[in-house]
Amino acid sequence: MSQDLNEIRVFAPATIANLSCGFDVLGLALEGVGDVMHLKRTDSPGVRILAVHGMDLPLEATQNVAGVAALALLEASGFSGGVEMVIEKRIKPGSGIGSSAASAAGAAWGLNALLGYPFENPDLVRFAMEGERLASGTAHADNVAPAIYGGITLVRSTDPLDIARVHCPGELHACVLHPQVELKTSDARKILKTSIPMAKGIRQWGNVGGLVTGLFTEDYGLISRSLEDCIIEPVRSLLIPGFDTMKQAALEAGALGFGISGSGPSVYALCRGSASARQVGQALQESYAPFDIPFELHLSPVGQRGVCLLEPDQQLPKV
Ligand code: HSE
Repeated sequence: MSQDLNEIRVFAPATIANLSCGFDVLGLALEGVGDVMHLKRTDSPGVRILAVHGMDLPLEATQNVAGVAALALLEASGFSGGVEMVIEKRIKPGSGIGSSAASAAGAAWGLNALLGYPFENPDLVRFAMEGERLASGTAHADNVAPAIYGGITLVRSTDPLDIARVHCPGELHACVLHPQVELKTSDARKILKTSIPMAKGIRQWGNVGGLVTGLFTEDYGLISRSLEDCIIEPVRSLLIPGFDTMKQAALEAGALGFGISGSGPSVYALCRGSASARQVGQALQESYAPFDIPFELHLSPVGQRGVCLLEPDQQLPKV
């Protein structure tokens, strides 16, 4: 597809949700890791997904997270036409780095661009959340918010939707190890308890406040101390082979913190600077080798842009 007023190509970033202490509320965008989507405005109404390259996913719009997000936007826009999409899936579903969120955010953002930007970012998050509802049964926004806004976001509330951009220190880098096993978010949510003891709540919201304060003040010590999850990680980490081994290796190699990326199975470390991220990445690879599970490793600064237009000839690195 060429790039003109009616036809665009967008990059939709992968994201790390939760950031350990901030279950369902904190998230950040990665740079260069994500899906590519081609969108074309059509006179005929509705959403047609012509192809999904790279993964076996439904083409039926109502069964596809990108389709559902686009349908929600179309309905709200009053536009009489429709959209055609081709999706290049570069993030595997069930990876823990926001695969469904990237496609849903890319569809909502891209269609908004084709219609002349009638909607603001909070609206786009709302449309993309419909994709999350389809994917996991819960319309959480901690992946779609950073996918659309870029950087680090806090979802203070989903009803009504209230999203704040959190300052991101320039040196912050993420290192993500993705074991090549699928873990559905819906399954990883089912195993969670629905209530928590007060003492754990107090510790967790101390950490959320500490992390946000540490990010705004660029206090890496406070960031590091706050990257702790006493509620979700003890339960979900049991589903990730080698989690404790990797955590120890990452922290010994100098990571500020280490935890589960979203609902897993990917794990992430936050690091101060790219050299530290490379060192932590190396330690993670070495610690995981004995587990004999294939994996991918992504090293990335925090992506300051969310979904964005790609130039017609702009290439992304192979994944
Ligand atoms: N907050 C969600 C969860 C993110 O942890 O279930 C899913 O990527």
